[in-house]
Amino acid sequence: MTDPNILSTRHDGVLALELSRRDKKNAITTGMYAALAQAFELASTDNEVAVVLLRGQPDLFTAGNDLADFLSPAARETPAAHQFLRAISRFPKPIVAAVGGPAIGIGTTMLLHCDFVIVAEGARLQLPFVQLGLCPEAGSSLLLPQMAGHRLAAELMLLGEPFDAIKARDAGIVTAIVPESELLAHAQSLAERLARQPRDAMLTTKALLKRPLGRTVTEAMEEEFPHFERLLATDEARAIFQAFLEKRSSAR
Ligand code: COA
Repeated sequence: MTDPNILSTRHDGVLALELSRRDKKNAITTGMYAALAQAFELASTDNEVAVVLLRGQPDLFTAGNDLADFLSPAARETPAAHQFLRAISRFPKPIVAAVGGPAIGIGTTMLLHCDFVIVAEGARLQLPFVQLGLCPEAGSSLLLPQMAGHRLAAELMLLGEPFDAIKARDAGIVTAIVPESELLAHAQSLAERLARQPRDAMLTTKALLKRPLGRTVTEAMEEEFPHFERLLATDEARAIFQAFLEKRSSAR
């Protein structure tokens, strides 16, 4: 399964997966989720891949789930997003994310499953689930309070306002903040450095680091899915998505 909006390159043990749909701010469609999910599933057993680098462009990570897909019954019936989230959350090799510009919704929650998150100075993260009439996904209802503490997690999730790289670092989401012009080089060089580490030791160490929370994250994610699906179908949420797509001010 491939998708023209997911660019995949492999070099020196690093599989780079690039979100590339700039005309729609890299909003992620069902097809893109399916391609990402399959890329992670294949990479987990591919000996040529030591590390995955997840990236957009230096000024744009992703505007999150495609809001038109949220309105499409076909897209909701085959939740490829679930498949992607399960794949990224149990991926056994290191994941490095390079994040610049907007990183909205799942664009932020997917980072909670990455081992290194390199963020450009101008990045704007956002968890607007409640604003959209939705609730958290990706295990973020567990992972964010754990990383950020309840107070900051509540602020970021219940108000859903955009936040900058420094606040993201305060929330425990960020490994390093770098100038936008250095983002991709920094993340690539980190990924290559990881790819040169002794493989067995690295995979064993990641497994040990993930062990305490592994099952709990899966449980949280599976518990979030039905709430998210129920809210997606409410008139309130659907009106908000529709308003955004029609560029009506009631979108927020
Ligand atoms: N789903 C579908 N289309 C999206 C989208 C999304 N999540 N985000 C942006 N787009 C589309 C816009 O509809 C617009 O399409 P058009 O040119 O055909 O009208 C295009 O991408 C450009 O977006 P625009 O809003 O004009 O760009 P901007 O620079 O003013 O703002 C964002 C950029 C990312 C801040 C803004 O697009 C945004 O808030 N997007 C929605 C984020 C969101 O709520 N995501 C869901 C999270 S669960």
